[in-house]
Amino acid sequence: MGDVHYIESGVGAPLVLLHAFPLDARMWNPVRTRLEDRTRMIAPDQRGLGESALDGSSAHPLAGGDRAAAPDVELAAADVLELMDRLELPRAVVGGCSMGGYVAMAMLRAAPERVAGLLLVDTKATADGPDQQANRRAVADRAESSGTGDWLAADMLPNLLGDTTRQQRPEVVEQVRGLIEEQPAAGVAWAQRAMAARPDSTGTLRGFGGPALVVVGAEDGITPPQEAAKMADLLPDGELVTLPEVGHLSALEDPDAFTAAIGPWLNRIG
Ligand code: MLT
Repeated sequence: MGDVHYIESGVGAPLVLLHAFPLDARMWNPVRTRLEDRTRMIAPDQRGLGESALDGSSAHPLAGGDRAAAPDVELAAADVLELMDRLELPRAVVGGCSMGGYVAMAMLRAAPERVAGLLLVDTKATADGPDQQANRRAVADRAESSGTGDWLAADMLPNLLGDTTRQQRPEVVEQVRGLIEEQPAAGVAWAQRAMAARPDSTGTLRGFGGPALVVVGAEDGITPPQEAAKMADLLPDGELVTLPEVGHLSALEDPDAFTAAIGPWLNRIG
């Protein structure tokens, strides 16, 4: 049995939601409380982050039984598939924000038959270029050598949150800062290296015939609206929603608008 930690709540059709970097499953709490009367939400912590161990013991065939596996979004996806096995969930709507979106796309490559619908939030289909990969590896090295306590949140907050949130929602800024500061440095390093190595998912999206919703914050500077529009175009049954006055963490920045955007889609796909 795997040991991925997860938060589960609500009743209804299952929705597996994968968190962004460098956060954990708690980023979905504001959405969870708004959807709990109609959706069974399962939010895992990616290995090494939140309460999930770094040496995840995934027994899923894709994990190859390698407990000290190299950083890889495909392995993060295998952990989630194994969690779905544990929960006896043959299929679920799978959604992810940013890094969680990269993992959702890896799930689609590994086991498309288990994805009843795809929710891509502030993410992108393309792989990193050499500069971005080098930058991620430098962040990973720094996290391992000096921890993340005094610099990671300060470096990331300006990009993770939209201008409106940074100016008008101080409680969200502090909430995200707190989540970042609680993440173990080794898990931060693993996630950065996994993202650096991720493949291009363009073909993966083109080949997914199920329902898909792409949500993006109008002020998202990391995975901007143009990237979201490209993904929606690639997806044969893709729809696009752009949320005003929010950035890269749209679901946390304005959970009412986010829930209003995904609720009708979830109802429609059942
Ligand atoms: C995230 O929010 O998960 C990260 O910003 C994704 C990334 O660095 O590409």
